[in-house]
Amino acid sequence: MEANGSPGPRIGDAFGLQLSDAVRLRRPVTAFVERSDGLIVPSGSAQWLNGEQEWPSAVRDALARAQGPVLDVGAGSGRHGAFLARRSMHVTALDTSALALGICRDAGVQETVRGDVTELEHRMRGREPFRTVLFLGNNVGLLGSVSRGTDILRQVHAITSADALIIAEGRRPVGGTADNDAYAERNLARGGLPGELVMRLRYGTTATDWFPYLFCGPEELERIAGAAGWRLCDVQDFRYPGAPSDAPLLSYTAVLRKHDGDG
Ligand SMILES: C[S@@+](CC[C@H](N)C(=O)[O-])C[C@H]1O[C@@H](n2cnc3c(N)ncnc32)[C@H](O)[C@@H]1O
Repeated sequence: MEANGSPGPRIGDAFGLQLSDAVRLRRPVTAFVERSDGLIVPSGSAQWLNGEQEWPSAVRDALARAQGPVLDVGAGSGRHGAFLARRSMHVTALDTSALALGICRDAGVQETVRGDVTELEHRMRGREPFRTVLFLGNNVGLLGSVSRGTDILRQVHAITSADALIIAEGRRPVGGTADNDAYAERNLARGGLPGELVMRLRYGTTATDWFPYLFCGPEELERIAGAAGWRLCDVQDFRYPGAPSDAPLLSYTAVLRKHDGDG
């Protein structure tokens, strides 16, 4: 209960509400990411709705390798899935946000499935195996931890063809502030990776549930993926357009293949 007797944030589809408002109002709107230690940082909508001309070349290069059928995991507005659908690939978007999936359909994604990344095998049972699975928009974060990530990527293995690719985008953890360093040290002390977060998104008076999220480098991704039958075959570091040229290179794309896959 909050100070004046109000119940605190309503738990709901905060990300979907943020995207829907941005689309309806035709301007960027701001949500806030809240980390479990109380750190709050703004998160604008423009980054989730931009077109291919604004994407880092590393993302465009990785997407050039996609082949259908495609599964876009945590698809958001469907910007990447819709881009591939326009290139005649059949795209299925998976997301927990019903509002985001509506935006995906409006953008031209052919199929949408509401579900959690941890139940991929169940949600995709009986479908033709996917040849490309996207984890873009830093959706390596959805892997959450070593054990959760390995379980998710094992499920991706089970629903994909032998020659399948995962096209993923990740981000290394940011250190350098007392709060971030203390957070990473607590993770290490309990045996986790330094970049494991528990966070939620808040938009207006709505908040998502708390969820696990992972900032990790390609070496850590390789460890998680290797245990699930995948190998990293191409990694490209990049900065988001507009970042200062001396900013640390935190973001990367990674293309993964099955250990026993073609090539
Ligand atoms: C950071 S956004 C990225 C969206 C999109 N890939 C892009 O690049 O624009 C993360 C997306 O993942 C979805 N998401 C979060 N947790 C999820 C989960 N456990 N399972 C499936 N989707 C999830 C959110 O609703 C959101 O649409």
